[in-house]
Amino acid sequence: MPGESLLPPNGIVWGFHVVMYLTATFIVPLTIDDFRARFPILANRVYVNSCSQGALSLDVEAAFRTFTESWHAGGSPWDGWVEEIERLRGLFAASIGAAADEIAVMPSASTAIAAIATALRFDHPRSQVVLGEFEFPTSAHVWLAQQRRGASVVWAKAHGDTLPIDAYASLVDDRTLIVPATQVCFRNGYRVDIPALVKLCHERGAWCLVDDYQRTGSGPIDVHELGVDFLVTGALKYQLGAAGIAYLYARRELIERLEPLVTGWFGRVEPFAFDIKRLDWATSARRFEAGTPPVPNAYAAAAGIELLQSVGLETIERQIAALVERFVSGARARGLDVATPNDPARRGPLVVIRVRDAAALVARLSAQGIIASSRDNGLRVSFHGYNSTDDCDAVLAALDAEGIR
Ligand SMILES: Cc1ncc(COP(=O)(O)O)c(C=O)c1O
Repeated sequence: MPGESLLPPNGIVWGFHVVMYLTATFIVPLTIDDFRARFPILANRVYVNSCSQGALSLDVEAAFRTFTESWHAGGSPWDGWVEEIERLRGLFAASIGAAADEIAVMPSASTAIAAIATALRFDHPRSQVVLGEFEFPTSAHVWLAQQRRGASVVWAKAHGDTLPIDAYASLVDDRTLIVPATQVCFRNGYRVDIPALVKLCHERGAWCLVDDYQRTGSGPIDVHELGVDFLVTGALKYQLGAAGIAYLYARRELIERLEPLVTGWFGRVEPFAFDIKRLDWATSARRFEAGTPPVPNAYAAAAGIELLQSVGLETIERQIAALVERFVSGARARGLDVATPNDPARRGPLVVIRVRDAAALVARLSAQGIIASSRDNGLRVSFHGYNSTDDCDAVLAALDAEGIR
């Protein structure tokens, strides 16, 4: 039969594997169960701590090996490593609806925020920074440090566990330069109404910088549709990568107006020109970068994004929403003190329960194989697409057994 000789002796088995590979990788998205199976820790732990660090997948582990193998094989294959940074830039850009030239690959969210903060001038009437009380400390610290350069910082006050748009509306005016706002609060899981905040800022002539670190990777986002001016986030939580990679999105029209005071050779038009006497600025968001990029972490970060894409961020968002709803209603039914809002629109993947000694509770849960975390008096339980209803119920059962009320 024509072509038959092309099949290896075990051609049917071989063909099956090829079809499975193509199906899994390119055509049919991974199911939630397939996704879960990529995380060895989930076989023996209840892992509900993606708000601190995403679980390690086989894919990300393999990506680290790809990096070390390239190092073994090439000695110093910097061309390939720089290409991997560019590949990551493109992957991340596509995952948030941005263009690759609107993305800077940064070592941390702090440096990303600082790149924007130090590029702004505060020697004019619009010198106000409006900060919400649910910011992550780093965001507040970077802006507080700008007070020495003329910035005036005012605080949008929390109303209990909420930070409604009204808290910003009374402050944002023609003196406001920028409103940096965390989408999901690391302390209580409250989700700020970012579309409404962006609209408010733009109506009043201010820019809005979103810190999306506690949400990116847990569901879709389209920065162009949202109209946000800047967005910072990082790889290590819901994006399933490791520490050392963060991202800065800057809206195309703003990029060439900004020159950060923290800079370095990777921010130049042509970094490999090695011209020490010329300070030019890349025309893309790469101008916000500074030094040698964290290459091993870029391999891991790219694998994390690709794994998320193979499931689909809509599917992941649905799974998380169902688990969060199950957990919040289970906790409320037990009379637990849930800090995270009941309204699904005002919460993300993180649920926080107020308890007496949260750090001690986290240690006791860990001894039972449940990995969670705490901030202040809050037990933080966060869900990813790889979590199951069994994980959710196991945490509730452990809280029952602990006598938490
Ligand atoms: C909302 C938010 N922003 C930023 C960070 C971390 O910033 P960096 O990358 O500078 O450590 C975290 C870490 O938990 C966070 O929750």
